[in-house]
Amino acid sequence: MTLEFPHRFKWGISSASYQIEGAVNEDGRGPSIWDTFSHTPGKILNGHTGDVAADHYHRVSEDTELLEALGTQIYRFSTAWPRIFPNGTGTANPKGVAFYDRMVDTLLEAGIEPWVCFYHWDLPQPLQDRGGWLNREIAEWFTDYAVFMAGKLGDRVSTFAMLNEPSVTAYRGHGVGEYAPGVANRTAFFGATHHQNLAQGTALRALREINPAWRLGTVLNLSVAAPAVDTEADRDAARMYDLTWNRAFLDPLYHGRYPERLATDLKPFVAEGDLETIHQPTDYLGINFYCRSFISADPSGPLGFNRGTPPAGIPASSMGWAATPEAFYEQLVDLRDNYGNPPVYCTENGLSCIETPDENGFVDDTDRISYIDSYLRQAHRAIAEGCRFEGYFVWTMLDTFEWKWGFDHRMGLIHVDYETLRRTPKRSYRWFRDVVAANGLPD
Ligand code: FCB
Repeated sequence: MTLEFPHRFKWGISSASYQIEGAVNEDGRGPSIWDTFSHTPGKILNGHTGDVAADHYHRVSEDTELLEALGTQIYRFSTAWPRIFPNGTGTANPKGVAFYDRMVDTLLEAGIEPWVCFYHWDLPQPLQDRGGWLNREIAEWFTDYAVFMAGKLGDRVSTFAMLNEPSVTAYRGHGVGEYAPGVANRTAFFGATHHQNLAQGTALRALREINPAWRLGTVLNLSVAAPAVDTEADRDAARMYDLTWNRAFLDPLYHGRYPERLATDLKPFVAEGDLETIHQPTDYLGINFYCRSFISADPSGPLGFNRGTPPAGIPASSMGWAATPEAFYEQLVDLRDNYGNPPVYCTENGLSCIETPDENGFVDDTDRISYIDSYLRQAHRAIAEGCRFEGYFVWTMLDTFEWKWGFDHRMGLIHVDYETLRRTPKRSYRWFRDVVAANGLPD
């Protein structure tokens, strides 16, 4: 017996340019904020950088064969802005464009539908030098780049995502500074939040005008908040986390307004007409969902809270993210009840582990299988209760450069030996292949 998913349900797998491509100085690519950040001593665990990563830039054919054998219908990847516009704006780099052109063709030949995300955090460094996400002009810079890219790929690609996880760029990149560009203050958090929303809105509007047939959306990292301890202070901190992590992105997109409590902080950035610009129709919402977040009050944090480790008894990933499948169900219900039940795809979900392969390079990752299985069961429950949940993408295909955690925390269905760059499918790869083939889970 199988716990079956709906007939039209889609299965996919996700990746991101800086995390796997490597080749950072090749074929005219310009520097990104992640090159700068990862080369800054002390920022990344063990001093790792994405200079080579999984060397995907040189191995698209081999990696596409692995994808084809996995059987997922969709592959979501991001285009690296600094490969296309090494200076961020201005003259395009034909070799960068050619790389993604080939990638799209290779995927299509293998029968895999490419979904393209324009921004997965590798902002061109020259744009950071002009203020990056804190400069309002970035809405134009980003829109020009998205329009250019869609113009190049949009005869073969129909689904585009504007941004990946603006809350992470705002909070980790500009609030606490543990991700590039490493800015840490409350004002920057709110500036980066609003300018990303604005850039997303201007790009959506421009693309919609060019080709109404494209399926346009964006990708948010959402998390259900819980107080770390059941005190009024922690309950209030959890509410603030929910507003700044989730609602500051969902509310303007779906309702054309910001949460009341954030109005004073956002006021310096919001110009007349901005909220109408952000409030664009979308064809779907991508959500990256990993965990419930346990929040404690912390007046020294830029937003007055801290995201702590899960309470005892709740299993967590190697990066400290709680395995909380019911939170995934709660999240889908929230989108159904408070945001008009849009078509939702989970564009990322997966488990980080410190893994040791056997002598053949094989990783027996049963924890990852249990984690994904448990989240899919909750998704199934949400679908049965009327949530328009239409597809699920695992994070991720290959082991990746996991941002501040470097290479030791692994999340791929395919193990990468960083000495030889050899790829070896893990147990989870075989398991997920069977799930996709059956369109469901073994009961
Ligand atoms: C998400 C990112 C993705 C990956 C996973 C683990 O926040 O979008 O790049 O690192 O976390």
